[in-house]
Amino acid sequence: MSVHVPAEGDRPVTTATFRARKAASERIVMLTAYDASSARLVDAAGVDAILVGDSLGMTVLGYDSTLPVTMDDMTRATFAVTRVARHALVVADLPFMSYQASAQDALRNAGRLMSEGGAGAVKLEGGAHVAETVRRLVAAGIPVMGHVGLTPQSIHQLGGYRVQAKDAPAAERLLDDCRALQDAGAFAVVLECIPAELASLASAELAIPTIGIGAGAGCDGEVQVFHDLLGLGDFTPRHAKRYAELGEAVVSAVAAYAADVRAGTFPGEEQTTHMDAVALGELRARRAGSVRRISGG
Ligand code: KIV
Repeated sequence: MSVHVPAEGDRPVTTATFRARKAASERIVMLTAYDASSARLVDAAGVDAILVGDSLGMTVLGYDSTLPVTMDDMTRATFAVTRVARHALVVADLPFMSYQASAQDALRNAGRLMSEGGAGAVKLEGGAHVAETVRRLVAAGIPVMGHVGLTPQSIHQLGGYRVQAKDAPAAERLLDDCRALQDAGAFAVVLECIPAELASLASAELAIPTIGIGAGAGCDGEVQVFHDLLGLGDFTPRHAKRYAELGEAVVSAVAAYAADVRAGTFPGEEQTTHMDAVALGELRARRAGSVRRISGG
């Protein structure tokens, strides 16, 4: 298994790269980002794709689900990410109720994420029941990534954030959903929180790449949430690994800043600009004159 790190002059990742990676058995690396500063770092690290996930509802906006996320939220975040991403394919999530009611909604909203946001592809949740929508989007020239298994926009129907498709009938339905997405023209499919054996089976059966999250190591790629990997949240899901403790680093850096300000040691000489002595003398003379005028002296 090989690792791909972008080199100088490397071409940007496209949906064709996804296909080529699967054919070459090279795993695809995807991570979320929701703003320019995180996207710049993620892109520089050489990931293949950045997901502007509707998980921004929780990680950035402080909601307890993805349901309140709007098209305006997604378009603005996608725009910020695509302003700086030079290498990674940027995939933007269609938020809750931006595509479920009609194919027209889906076309209009996916089109907005591409034209206003600059996304290279969109992602939507669901299987066979969204296949016709996927077909319409693909026919309009919009690359679509599917998403099955634990689909957070249906959390009230699923009854909680738990592993899906554990029994044989549900597992078979999931495989049928994947097939329907592929037949509709999806270029890849996210498999979220399903048993590893099922994810491996889906990956072997499908011609398009599978991107796992909480789906074991048998997928063609992996996607994770920026905040989970970097220790920026107060909860880490079981499927994530903390590669850094940036939350702790930020708290101690901000506490050190606060202590310096209170102690009067920041800003110091290094951060300070002084006025030219002649200009300062002139200013003092002018102020003295104006003080005399005001006090009538
Ligand atoms: O919104 C998101 O971050 C996602 C991933 C969890 C796949 O959809």
